[in-house]
Amino acid sequence: MRIVKKLVIAIDGPAGSGKSSTARLVAEALGYRYLDTGAMYRAVALKMLEQGVDLQDSKAIEEALRDIRIDQNEKDGQVRILLNEKDVTEAIRTPEISLWVGPVSENPTVREFLVARQREMGKKGGVIVEGRDIGTVVFPDAPIKIYLTADLDERARRRVKDLNGQGVDQPEEDVRQALAQRDERDSTREHSPLSCAVDAIVLDTTELALKQQVEKIVALAREREKPKKTKKNS
Ligand code: DC
Repeated sequence: MRIVKKLVIAIDGPAGSGKSSTARLVAEALGYRYLDTGAMYRAVALKMLEQGVDLQDSKAIEEALRDIRIDQNEKDGQVRILLNEKDVTEAIRTPEISLWVGPVSENPTVREFLVARQREMGKKGGVIVEGRDIGTVVFPDAPIKIYLTADLDERARRRVKDLNGQGVDQPEEDVRQALAQRDERDSTREHSPLSCAVDAIVLDTTELALKQQVEKIVALAREREKPKKTKKNS
């Protein structure tokens, strides 16, 4: 039997750069788990919204977090997000949550809580983790770090296509503006802003087909999974 190392692969990048589709397909090809950390921030935002937590009130935030458990399951080949065992996969994708998640993800207590949970979920390796601070903060020692980018117009086009697929019709210009605002917010916030790790491989996906970017990352992983040759068996 061939023994391979099961790695942690970090994928970061701005909204709409193709992180989720890429990470999912890479996970499938390698037989890894896929961890969507954005979904975890969204689940916390949903909980705060449902409980009417004042985001200026750090005690109330701490209290709400004490009562939160977030898990990720796979059902019929689909990733499902569970908040205290309730399936919230669809509920966390509403435009309201997309607005709320910004201030929630800026909160240092929320970040500390989720980063600890993400490290716990990824510690055994064999996992591909996507987000904004994975290669810089959550898994700074990940052996493979990818930073995906694509130009704003292309990201807006992709987002509109995704939304259309979900039966939602939104003008491309509105989507473009919302993405630009999110980029600004994610990259300028005080705690763990979106940034490219110095040792990350940057993949600009504007002109790359999904298949190509997946193949590149899978090839990198296969190479790094091989046990290092010792002098004796080289
Ligand atoms: O990837 P997404 O759009 O589902 O992420 C939702 C929000 O969570 C987004 O505004 C950025 C934030 N986020 C974060 O701050 N850190 C992460 N590791 C993942 C997402």
